[in-house]
Amino acid sequence: MKISFAEPALPHSGAAAVGIWEERVLTPAGRRLDEASGGAITRALAAAARFSGKKGELLPIVAPANLAVTRIVLAGLGKPDKTDARVYEELGGTLAAHLNGAGETEATVFVDVADGAPIDAAGAAAEIALGAQLRSYRFDKYKTKQKPEQKPSLTRLTVSTDASGAAKRAWRPLEKTAEAVFFTRDLVSEPANVIYPETLAEQAQALEELGVAIEILDEKAMRKLGMGALLGVAQGSARPPRLVVMEWHGAGMGGGNGGPLAFIGKGVTFDTGGISIKPAAGMGEMKWDMAGSAVVIGLMRLLAARKAKVDAVGVVGLVENMPSGTAQRPGDIVTSMSGQTIEVLNTDAEGRLVLADAMWYCQDRFKPRLMIDLATLTGAVVVALGHHRAGLFANDDELAVRLTEAGKAVGEEVWRLPLADSYDRDIDSDAADVKNIGGGRAAGSITAAQFLQRFVNKVPWAHLDIAGMAWSSKDAATVPKGATAFGVRLLQRLVAQYYEKD
Ligand code: BES
Ligand code: MN
Ligand code: ZN
Repeated sequence: MKISFAEPALPHSGAAAVGIWEERVLTPAGRRLDEASGGAITRALAAAARFSGKKGELLPIVAPANLAVTRIVLAGLGKPDKTDARVYEELGGTLAAHLNGAGETEATVFVDVADGAPIDAAGAAAEIALGAQLRSYRFDKYKTKQKPEQKPSLTRLTVSTDASGAAKRAWRPLEKTAEAVFFTRDLVSEPANVIYPETLAEQAQALEELGVAIEILDEKAMRKLGMGALLGVAQGSARPPRLVVMEWHGAGMGGGNGGPLAFIGKGVTFDTGGISIKPAAGMGEMKWDMAGSAVVIGLMRLLAARKAKVDAVGVVGLVENMPSGTAQRPGDIVTSMSGQTIEVLNTDAEGRLVLADAMWYCQDRFKPRLMIDLATLTGAVVVALGHHRAGLFANDDELAVRLTEAGKAVGEEVWRLPLADSYDRDIDSDAADVKNIGGGRAAGSITAAQFLQRFVNKVPWAHLDIAGMAWSSKDAATVPKGATAFGVRLLQRLVAQYYEKD
């Protein structure tokens, strides 16, 4: 889809979309379109009893008189003083879905922002474009028989505002955000016969073009470092594991203050459960058990693409969790890079084993100022929070608050769950320093987080359990069903708002 910004002018082709405030208050652009169409909007509003202009509502007026457009779409904005970035983003997304569904190929969206609204016209225009772009994502490369009506139709979107120059400038970083989100969604969507540790590492390697320094550790290198926890998971698979280290130096002379920001991702390219094998139903979903790593790779790509003034490092542990004659057995005891021994009582609790070594390596080598890991770690977090919020665990209140705020701002919300010694006792092992599962089914997401915390030194750390958020079974305003890339925008916002040098 080609996106452009233009000064307001009456459209002569395609569809026209315009916002309308709650209580059916027309925006200035709405009034102009109403006049130009001989009152088509006024008549439609009189006929549409249940349309009030609330956020998310759409009212299409097909083939209005006097105007050479295919349709006018009235799009509810809600209360004029509450129209923030998310409102315009969701408006763009909802409109893109409607226009694609209707078979429109070309559309102009008119932007009006009320006095006193928390965003200016240029920002609103750019957010509409972002929302439309994000919603238009498709992963259809393996569909060879799609009919034209099954494909998105919209090829040109013009956002019309009298601040078009400023809108164009505001769009530039957002366009890069959308690219990074698409990159991550692609990686997560690919099946496990295409994306496995070596090929995922190759995808990360491509970030070199953007100035990211990449190192790829193979099995031998990891063995030398003593990464027995990660290697234990990998040993059942014919696909060898990889650990990818990505460094972005954007802070310039003097570096960041107190080391880089560190992001660590779980990259289990397929999770069968291993010898503690999962049931057959739904196992195919476990191709997206590498979503945490794909988010970290996408984030590093975005920071480099927009030349973020920050030092950041991404570390992803890539393995395939398979049952086989060489697979790790329940009851095995492995020694992690930290020196701590782990009793592996369930080979399906593998993500924490991978992260234990990846996180230890990261803090040991980079002495980061903070560390955030992302992982599709537990089914239990889906029981607790469903598909509306990711689980957040942190040893640092300030970091937890910042992540919560950043999440709200971009619509990728997180909810903090507790860490405490009482939970930590549940993972004490009779035979080793720690065991990789708690007792029974209680507090599964918390005991998983407690396990991770055993591998965190004094650094401020947060863990995001994104098991309920990485993949979606229904369309949302800016996220079509499928891979969401949840976390890319959240962390981009966190970095930009709190850690970048001006
Ligand atoms: N990758 C899974 C967690 C998961 C489950 C993600 C469902 C997305 C949807 C993880 O490796 C796992 O298997 N966790 C186990 C832990 C248990 C054995 C303690 C789980 O949640 O059942
Ligand atoms: Mn598992
Ligand atoms: Zn897993």
